[in-house]
Amino acid sequence: MTQTVQTTAPTVDWGDWLQRWDAQQSLYLPDREERFQVMLDVLEVATPGPLLVLDIACGPGAISQRLLSRFPSAEVLALDTDPVLLAIGEGALGTLGGRVSWIKDDLTDPAWADRLADRLGGRLLDAVLSSTALHWVSPGVLAGVYRELGGLMRSGGVFLNADHIASAPHLETIRSVSSTMRERRRNLPPERAGAETWDGWWEAIRREPELAEVLAERDQRLSWRDRKWANAGLDFQAGALKDAGFREVDTIWQRFDNRILMAVR
Ligand SMILES: C[S@@+](CC[C@H](N)C(=O)[O-])C[C@H]1O[C@@H](n2cnc3c(N)ncnc32)[C@H](O)[C@@H]1O
Repeated sequence: MTQTVQTTAPTVDWGDWLQRWDAQQSLYLPDREERFQVMLDVLEVATPGPLLVLDIACGPGAISQRLLSRFPSAEVLALDTDPVLLAIGEGALGTLGGRVSWIKDDLTDPAWADRLADRLGGRLLDAVLSSTALHWVSPGVLAGVYRELGGLMRSGGVFLNADHIASAPHLETIRSVSSTMRERRRNLPPERAGAETWDGWWEAIRREPELAEVLAERDQRLSWRDRKWANAGLDFQAGALKDAGFREVDTIWQRFDNRILMAVR
């Protein structure tokens, strides 16, 4: 199931699609670039030296791109289940001099970690980074992913999960204020009205004839997705990371419920 992604449509303007992806993601996350920068700053301080990194649920590779530009000797494994986003990432960025491998795999399939371990051939990861992604799997699957990461990372390695992660359910006021602030920040300022949205971006992608094949594959791969669960909150994620063998877990950056959760293996 794991395979290197092949891109076959040289006339598609991959770089433009990647730029439009970044723009629409930033529409919902005004602090997106700051958050990426903090993640890389944390890596620089916490894990100096050459890095072997997993960009987990990478999409078209926002973390991989920024990380490899900041750390010239780093190597990244960029894993995602979406063949369209992987094709855009690989089409726009290539392998960045052989330093990024694009991997199609699905975190809901428990065998993903064995396949990754085979690919690593006995090497352990120095860091695992994720942005705006792990809420796409249920809390049960997420706990399993964290368990696997515990086995794939070296002692002292760093996990960073940048996402909206809510405070514990009994902190009702804090949760409610955070969610109101999040909604307020998502209200577009007039100068950005008309900017491309998530839905608009996907509608535009669907009009790209040369992507028909990967779009059909995407529809098949993601057809199971129903998202009936409540997203895993801070307490759940911290507990699951500790159970998985991470010795320290805390929020290292935060803006309301948008945070970077950091765990040290
Ligand atoms: C909003 S995108 C974020 C992508 C990228 N990290 C970024 O910040 O631009 C969420 C990503 O999670 C991926 N994803 C969701 N469920 C997944 C799963 N079960 N296995 C692997 N990737 C998954 C999606 O395909 C998508 O690329």
